[in-house]
Amino acid sequence: MNDKRVTFVSKIGIVAAAAGSAVGLGNIWRFPSQTADGGGALFILVYLGCILFFGIPLMVSEFMIGRAARANTAGAFHKLAPGTPWKWVGRLGVLTGFVILGFYMVVCGWTLDYFFQSLSGSLHRVTDFSENFNNLLYSPLRQIGWMILFTLLTAFFILSGVKKGIEQSSKIMMPLLFLLLIILAVRSVLLEGSAQGLNFLFKPDLAQVKPTLFLDAMGQAFFSLSIGMGCMITYGSYFNNNTHFLKTAVHVSLLDTLVAILAGVIIFPSAFALTTNPGTVVDELVAGGPGLLFITLPGLFNQMPASMVWATLFFCLLSLAALTSTISLMEVVTVYIHEEYRISRRKSTLLVTAAVVMLGTISSISAPFFQLLDIASAKIMLPIGGLFISLFVGWYLDKGMVYAELTNEGTLQFSTGFLKTYIFLLRYVAPVAMLAIFIYGLAG
Ligand code: PFF
Repeated sequence: MNDKRVTFVSKIGIVAAAAGSAVGLGNIWRFPSQTADGGGALFILVYLGCILFFGIPLMVSEFMIGRAARANTAGAFHKLAPGTPWKWVGRLGVLTGFVILGFYMVVCGWTLDYFFQSLSGSLHRVTDFSENFNNLLYSPLRQIGWMILFTLLTAFFILSGVKKGIEQSSKIMMPLLFLLLIILAVRSVLLEGSAQGLNFLFKPDLAQVKPTLFLDAMGQAFFSLSIGMGCMITYGSYFNNNTHFLKTAVHVSLLDTLVAILAGVIIFPSAFALTTNPGTVVDELVAGGPGLLFITLPGLFNQMPASMVWATLFFCLLSLAALTSTISLMEVVTVYIHEEYRISRRKSTLLVTAAVVMLGTISSISAPFFQLLDIASAKIMLPIGGLFISLFVGWYLDKGMVYAELTNEGTLQFSTGFLKTYIFLLRYVAPVAMLAIFIYGLAG
């Protein structure tokens, strides 16, 4: 394979690849457990605000940095700001990608395990779903085995080349997953007793406010949109000169948010409808944390005819959604090593694979370590990355260049008011708000 930078060809391919990175376990596994922990509707409201005010502007900024530099995350800062410390923002991004992979791969492994449980019919025979999930958590070897398999699968796609691997797989599985989520959401809402779950999801309860609410929501928004670590910089570097950044960012964010909300509409109504202890369901949801998806959903499948078929299809598509995200994460780290240290793409993939397996093994054995990686990446590293990326585009980059990139050298029309608002947001609003949320959240 030649090592020249390839570009995504079709427009649909661009959105599909970026959406493939964004839509993953963050939406279907992490969003519901964060929502439960954050008190339901209030968390969702703040989350939506974060997507709108930080998420979309930041995603546009990352695309811009990537396409302007046509380099990996760290190389991009180096190229656009030579001889300055800005390259550390890129390096932090690469490190963040690695930290995320260290626990994300474990959850990918759980998804594969559940796929095979569904396929073999054993999930169908389970009576206690909490116990079933705990059995997995307490068997390190089983977890490690699946985690390694998933890491190897990701590495295979990385090696098979950017266009073929990422673009094709995203285009096929995304619409399918979407369709299945809609079917499951309808089934969940039709369960008797589901209304309370919908209330929890859509009716804000001010008594639930926590000091970390804003930081939790912002971290989740960044994690879910794959921003704050330069993943979208790497993808932006593959965009062609006609790619409409703003439209792409809006489409990706809409899709990503829709999938997250759908996941909530699947999980909460069924959790409320299927619980045996209605009085403690909210506590259970919070305590369920990382297990929510793997405990509540099998219960929902059992309420459906041909449960085995639904469960198998769901966990298969979820694994694929996770795969397009792990590909993008691993791509960031691999391309960095490949381009910055001049190691062949093949060797750098092998190196990253080995390192991820090591980190994933520790997270499989130690729940506190798993949590540490999760919190460090989503609540500390991504917000810091996002803060510096907005400062970089808002203050450091030449305004003329920013406008030229945003408008594709003047071929796209934006009102001056819009362009000014965008810069104002990046210069003042986003950095100040993000810093305040960060400090306040960490203190809480
Ligand atoms: N956005 C992915 C998800 O929601 O599952 C996770 C992720 C992928 C985070 C890529 C960051 C990233 F760069």
